[in-house]
Amino acid sequence: MSDKPEKLITDDGLRLDGRRADEIRPMKIEIGVLSRADGSCYLEWGRNKILVGVFGPREAHPRRSQRADTAVIRYKYNMASFSVEDRARPGPSRRSIEISKVSREAFEPVIMAELFPKTAIDIFVEVLQADAGTRTAAINASSVALADAGIPMKGLITSCAFGKIDGKIVLDLNKDEDNYGDADFPVAMTQDGEITLVQMDGHLTPEEIREGLELVKKGCKEILEIQQAVLRKKFETPMGELAEEA
Ligand code: CDP
Repeated sequence: MSDKPEKLITDDGLRLDGRRADEIRPMKIEIGVLSRADGSCYLEWGRNKILVGVFGPREAHPRRSQRADTAVIRYKYNMASFSVEDRARPGPSRRSIEISKVSREAFEPVIMAELFPKTAIDIFVEVLQADAGTRTAAINASSVALADAGIPMKGLITSCAFGKIDGKIVLDLNKDEDNYGDADFPVAMTQDGEITLVQMDGHLTPEEIREGLELVKKGCKEILEIQQAVLRKKFETPMGELAEEA
């Protein structure tokens, strides 16, 4: 871990990675990267690197996990042991179980699971490299992978955190800001701005939360445009051109 910097915001108002308070880290998305998955996505966001595979709807196993009226949605967040500075211990942890649960719940309002009774829709997240904000990065990638798999959804889910560093509210904390900042507040929302995930680590006043949520709305709008652009490129490209690219 790097040493605690004296300041996280310099005198000219910029953060240590050069961003302004309301800027997200650069994001890059690739779609359809896994040939055995029904839908997949590789996403880089700053130094985070996330791979998602979506499988289904397929018959749910074990059969006792099936539901007669709907598909079950399963979300598994996993950190590769080499993804963090201190090796992450393989297997589920309290943290990964919690992230999997809240992330699944973030998608439940938009996935039209009732169309596929007795099936399962599996979302597997592998964090290859972590630099704070992996749960939000994974949700953004999962949203694209679900669309790639053709899972009917009422819209995309988009996710971004705001936080507090040096007493100031800023968008999308990186690792140093997360380590040495005062608060982190991940949010996920639908395309219509309906919030489907909220978590908070640290202390914030109601006014700070209001200010942060405004930043998050701006960040999510930018992310939605990136998600839509990559999906449009895939689904609007005539079949002939896709064959030529392959
Ligand atoms: O990644 P996210 O911000 O969603 O979750 P977090 O629990 O707030 O973790 C923040 C960051 O701490 C992660 O993104 C990793 O960079 C780091 N971390 C770590 O180094 N080792 C772990 N076992 C878990 C997290």
